[in-house]
Amino acid sequence: MPTLTNKRILLGITGGIAAYKCAELSRLFTRAGAEVRVVMTRAAQEFVTPLTMQALTGNRVHLDLLDFEAEAAMGHIELARWADLVLVAPASADFLARIAHGRADDLLSTLILATPAPIALAPAMNQGMWSDPGTQQNLAEVHHRGYRLFGPDEGDQACGDVGPGRMVEPAELLAGCAELFSGEPLAGRHLLITGGPTREAIDPVRFLSNHSSGKMAYALATEAVAAGARVTLISGPVALPTPDRVTRIDVVGAEEMLSATMERITDADVFIGVAAVADYRPANQTAEKIKKDQVSMKIDLLRNPDIISEVAGLNPRPLVVGFAAETGDVLANGREKLERKRLDLLFANNATETFNSDEVAATAISAEGEIEIPRARKEAVARKMLGMIAERLSAAADTAS
Ligand code: C5P
Repeated sequence: MPTLTNKRILLGITGGIAAYKCAELSRLFTRAGAEVRVVMTRAAQEFVTPLTMQALTGNRVHLDLLDFEAEAAMGHIELARWADLVLVAPASADFLARIAHGRADDLLSTLILATPAPIALAPAMNQGMWSDPGTQQNLAEVHHRGYRLFGPDEGDQACGDVGPGRMVEPAELLAGCAELFSGEPLAGRHLLITGGPTREAIDPVRFLSNHSSGKMAYALATEAVAAGARVTLISGPVALPTPDRVTRIDVVGAEEMLSATMERITDADVFIGVAAVADYRPANQTAEKIKKDQVSMKIDLLRNPDIISEVAGLNPRPLVVGFAAETGDVLANGREKLERKRLDLLFANNATETFNSDEVAATAISAEGEIEIPRARKEAVARKMLGMIAERLSAAADTAS
């Protein structure tokens, strides 16, 4: 089934009888994982109501360029920037003519000019209007600009004619739109990432933890979305905003992180354990704040579960990728962890240079050998790491087929 995971589709509907098919089209898009926002021209509203489209997409439908309330909620430039793809379906002869001339006299034509996103058109009109040299000239113009054209199909028309001008069927439009994103390295993949530190409570006000900032996990989550993935980020307590389009699950302790992971692991293609999970937790957490009436005190500690090893022990299991922040013998310790924890890939680095920093260097360690990733901003390093992960996924898919 074609996937549009995480994609933001701006569906423009213009005035034509094929507009009724947009109800089905928007359902297919949302089922494929996309978020859909609909913009309708005045004529489109004669064929299908904004309320129908709003109910199907769960988003308010955008109708007017000069609507004070709509602009306050999401202005037209913001809407143009929001989209990953603008699809106009059906695109009427009149709409083609207007955009071929670069007009911006309603919301949809304005968005076409303003958007940095790719633009696709599914023309639909009477066969005579389609064949008219004026329409063909307009079509050549928009084609020349790089707009993607879907159809039209040939066949029976609502007006009784037979010929070219039928809008391409919704399922085919979905497949065509999904195809536009299929080059993304992680298209359709689900990545489950743990990040940040864990906090292990001693009493109601004190805890054991570490210096992890969560920056590496958050950079990976951000870049994985940009590479087409669906991302679930299980995060310990950090001071970072949730990256766009990422599902974030907040946890505190290691045991909570483990159960949050296990609840979501079954449909994950990749598990990346970036979290600096506390290795131990206090054996007893007191209900009352501990008083400082003793000169010294002891806290009994229990080993925490090793989350990544638990994931690696599953059958079937996702691709399992670990991190190792070491203070010495980075490579030897990294390889030992790769093998002991049965990981597919491990990124090792120097703990003193990594924690809380915006930059990082790493060595990728796997059964095949080692690859250096030179020091750079965590986002750039994350892109390289995800490139290696995508390569492994496609190599595994090739072997399976
Ligand atoms: O053993 P160490 O903590 O150095 O191993 C690091 C790797 O193991 C990281 O990928 C980390 O997220 C994961 N880990 C884990 N659960 C633990 C300890 C580490 O998932 N309890």
